[in-house]
Amino acid sequence: MIIAVDGPLASGKGTIARALAARFGLPYLDTGSLYRATGVAVLEQGIDPCDEAACAAAARALDITAIDEARIRTAEAGAMASRIAVLTGVRTALYELQRNFALQPGGAILDGRDIGTVICPDADVKLYIMADTETRARRRWEELTARGEAISYAEMLEQTRERDRRDAERPDAPMRAADDATLLDTSSLSIDAAVAQAVAVVEKRQKA
Ligand code: CDP
Repeated sequence: MIIAVDGPLASGKGTIARALAARFGLPYLDTGSLYRATGVAVLEQGIDPCDEAACAAAARALDITAIDEARIRTAEAGAMASRIAVLTGVRTALYELQRNFALQPGGAILDGRDIGTVICPDADVKLYIMADTETRARRRWEELTARGEAISYAEMLEQTRERDRRDAERPDAPMRAADDATLLDTSSLSIDAAVAQAVAVVEKRQKA
């Protein structure tokens, strides 16, 4: 079984995808971490984020066994990830890795922006997780400040709007729900309630 989970920043897709992976015993890939790690490489190597060939080379050179989790989770890494994610060369460089992960025997679960539309248009289950902008900005702001990052809520709200717009408006693999995705709005749901709804969607599909 292949499960695709997409949605915007801090919608809850990562939490839901990890819970589904544990529940159904599937390997899980957070595809955003690949774009974030590429963004960090671009920042650290002083690469011009408009230089498509150089950014694509940074994506190809990624060692996914050596991704620095703390470093890729900053707001700066997220913002840079979204900038280099508009580049087709970067998306192409990361495509095969994601596709191979999805096609491993027994299935897999992937989360991102284009899993149900581009990476796994053939997924057995597609979920599109959303929540209103202010709720998402607040969730991410709480996460980042708990980790000691100095960012104001107003700044986070601004970044959320900017990232949503850039991710949804890029011509290559824009963030959007696949036509056959089940939409799940987590704005007023607890984590447990959101996970329970996602589990119900997967179980329904398994029975069908
Ligand atoms: O966790 P958060 O929602 O902040 O984002 P993420 O999943 O870590 O992804 C960071 C950025 O990578 C996104 O804003 C997208 O621009 C890009 N991305 C993408 O283009 N396609 C994906 N499949 C996953 C992430």
